[in-house]
Amino acid sequence: MASFHLSNTSVQFGQFHALKSLHIDIQPAERLALIGTSGSGKTTLLKLLNAQITASQGEVQILGEKVDTLSPKRLRQLRSHIAFIPQHLGLISNLRVFQNIMLGRVGKRSTLGTLRDLAMPADEEMQKIFDILNSLGIAEKLYQRTSSLSGGQQQRVALARALYQNPEVLLADEPVSAVDPARARSMVQLLNKIASENKLTLIMSIHNIELAQEFFPRVIGLRGGEISYDGTNSQLDPAALERIYKLNTDELSQ
Ligand SMILES: Nc1ncnc2c1ncn2[C@@H]1O[C@H](COP(=O)(O)OP(=O)(O)OP(=O)(O)O)[C@@H](O)[C@H]1O
Ligand SMILES: [Mg+2]
Repeated sequence: MASFHLSNTSVQFGQFHALKSLHIDIQPAERLALIGTSGSGKTTLLKLLNAQITASQGEVQILGEKVDTLSPKRLRQLRSHIAFIPQHLGLISNLRVFQNIMLGRVGKRSTLGTLRDLAMPADEEMQKIFDILNSLGIAEKLYQRTSSLSGGQQQRVALARALYQNPEVLLADEPVSAVDPARARSMVQLLNKIASENKLTLIMSIHNIELAQEFFPRVIGLRGGEISYDGTNSQLDPAALERIYKLNTDELSQ
């Protein structure tokens, strides 16, 4: 069963076509980088794969299920298998680290249950969170206020929150844009290591082409909402990159 199957899938916002007739199959445990200029549709595609937005045309299958036929309850269950790390991480800065991580399970539990966990976490859950933070090298931050952590540490908290969900799929929307190049590289490396070890499907949008080429076996290049490249990292040559990134003459004259 594929992790994702898109067939002739389009997304429209009003009159604007953000994604145009995409055909994409993504298999379990694939690691894929999404590249493309600003506005090419990377975030829109990730939101579609996270069932946060719906297609205006064509088919979307997530983990073998056609999303447009699902009840809200089934859709919530399906989404609990997918963890999403948004570009700005989506952490609540005045909560403690463990509380932000617990919020990763919202949707799997009742709101009341989650609130109770946040106030009085069970020992067993704290141990799980500790173990995840330990594997990411920031176990000592468990009880700290999230706002007191550095940017790189906050990235790890966002990753810990995603892993606490125990997902099959990890979607990450450029989670490395706000840190220095060394930290960006180590985050991409860590995400890939965790995805490989746990056989997770990893799909990450990224502006840094070198990192995309170094770590992701498959790369999809979007351009104006269309697929301009879909292939291996090794075949992503300068000609392919030019097709993905070249400026149109009207863009040059702006
Ligand atoms: N909710 C929306 N309503 C209208 N237009 C939208 C909406 N969301 C996205 N768009 C448009 O769709 C296009 C693709 O946006 P998207 O955010 O997917 O680009 P991106 O590739 O993620 O860009 P970036 O690299 O800057 O993050 C853009 O032109 C954007 O303005
Ligand atoms: Mg984006």
